[in-house]
Amino acid sequence: MDTKKRIIVIGSSNTDMVIKADYLPKPGETILGGSFIMNHGGKGANQAVAAARLGGDVTFICKVGNDLFGSDAVEMLHKEAIETAYISVADQQPSGVALINVDSNGENTIVVASGANSSLSMEDIGKAEAAMEQAYILMMQLEIPVETVTYAAKAAKRNGTIVVLNPAPAPVEKLPEELLKSVDILIPNVTEAEILSGITIDSDESARKAIHAITAQGIPTVILTMGAKGVLAFHEGNYIRVPAFKVEATDTTAAGDTFCGALCVALSEGQNLEDGIRFACKASSVSVTRMGAQQSMPVREEIRL
Ligand code: RIB
Repeated sequence: MDTKKRIIVIGSSNTDMVIKADYLPKPGETILGGSFIMNHGGKGANQAVAAARLGGDVTFICKVGNDLFGSDAVEMLHKEAIETAYISVADQQPSGVALINVDSNGENTIVVASGANSSLSMEDIGKAEAAMEQAYILMMQLEIPVETVTYAAKAAKRNGTIVVLNPAPAPVEKLPEELLKSVDILIPNVTEAEILSGITIDSDESARKAIHAITAQGIPTVILTMGAKGVLAFHEGNYIRVPAFKVEATDTTAAGDTFCGALCVALSEGQNLEDGIRFACKASSVSVTRMGAQQSMPVREEIRL
């Protein structure tokens, strides 16, 4: 039987509490919003679900609390046919929670209480060594300790696994050099790329300069996601420009996560990077037309190019 190439996602799992309102409140302001939804989120779990729903063979490694939110999240991941054997449970911390406001243009603000995500450790990753050795791609973000991300990236690199990092949320401190050296593909949005490069992005030219500054830090491939402006990537000495699919945005939460998960699926199927980016753009364009994080993510039949 033909075994698909395995994708391992390491990262956060949260429960998202979302309120849709006309606009995002200013500091000190109380506003009356509209509908409320609670759904599964967390950048790591979102990327794992996006990949699994699009047909990827996914193992997800995270840490949840010993509570209802945690067990519910793991059950949901299991239903998505994601390998959950390496998910650990923290006794002393609650599961991660995110409070999200979404405005009438689909833009959001997010505050995360990391809880158990903040104690996903190198030891936890060590327990998944056998699975890590089998992985074709490792996908990570920054809602778990950076030491854990660095440890996993180095281990994956030694195994010849493709290491993909989505540097979200935007790092407040400089990322360790040994992490950057282990990353094959970096997927920042504009804010993250500005922080990592020190360059303000307000044009195609400045976007290229920022990408160049990031590749100079040792990362061979950079895929800059720019929302409605599409994607600009640098790969094997060439720039690739992929326009965004035009859609009416209801909620952009987890659009980036959908993109990352979808790209991993495309690469695990042997698609080239440009086709993979187009596939991922399509997937994230579908997700923004619906409310929520994991509940907004498309299945394969919806991605017709
Ligand atoms: O990227 C979107 C995600 O960020 C949300 O699901 C929320 O949980 C935060 O992790």
